[in-house]
Amino acid sequence: MSPVVARSRAELAAARAEMKGVVGVVMTMGALHSGHASLLRAARERADHVVLTVFVNPLQFGPNEDFDRYPRTFEGDVEIATAAGVDVIFAPTPEEMYPSGEPAVRVDPGPVGEILEGASRPGFFHGVLTVVLKLLHLTRADVAYFGEKDYQQLTLIRTMVRDLDLDVEICGVPTVREPDGLALSSRNRYLSSSDRESALALSRALRAGAGVAAAGGPDATLAAARTELEQIPGAELDYLVLTDPDLRPPPERGPARLLVAAKVGTTRLIDNAPVEIH
Ligand code: PAF
Repeated sequence: MSPVVARSRAELAAARAEMKGVVGVVMTMGALHSGHASLLRAARERADHVVLTVFVNPLQFGPNEDFDRYPRTFEGDVEIATAAGVDVIFAPTPEEMYPSGEPAVRVDPGPVGEILEGASRPGFFHGVLTVVLKLLHLTRADVAYFGEKDYQQLTLIRTMVRDLDLDVEICGVPTVREPDGLALSSRNRYLSSSDRESALALSRALRAGAGVAAAGGPDATLAAARTELEQIPGAELDYLVLTDPDLRPPPERGPARLLVAAKVGTTRLIDNAPVEIH
């Protein structure tokens, strides 16, 4: 059955009033791909009702970023949502989400919001957390699903839920990759075929780091990953870091996270992977 499409808060509230039991939400900016489909499947397995939100959030784009050219593929999104068994798609306009214009009050992500993506994209996480909080309120979801691909975003959303006592469970879902390792992203469609080849260095670096982590310490892990990244033509490394699972300094041993960001051609890509340091 096709999902109900709610364009306004009132339409969403009417659809939400019909839902009984566990409500799961998957928040997206549209341009859905198999990574989103895996979030929707996770929600479908657990929840009695699944709400998909499709909203390209202007608040999380900087003045020189790709808000205007961000892919908008609503018909294809509806097909993917229908195949995944979504009940309701909430697809508001910016005016519906921000009726008084840009909100004067925003969620402050704190220090973790200032590093990595936050350092390269000032204000980004204020925009993300503000819209996520609003969408949690509007959907009144019990469980919300986010991809590990945006690991810093997932970490900050968990922190917001904990620190602001939000009554919702956050589930992280592993990154979906192409067979050659490239992490799925709506922005991959910007890549030319030679950019796409270069972009593989990100996942290769993570694999190389993870392989070495099993035998070496943090320095050897980073060195192995960096060697892969140094070989990318036409790519500009933004960061390569090893942290603990909460994005604090890495442990000498135990679970850690390796995160990378690079500009390939004109496209900024991010990726990350869990590593176990021995
Ligand atoms: O991950 C995304 O697509 C966005 O940052 C989100 C969570 C939908 C907020 O706009």
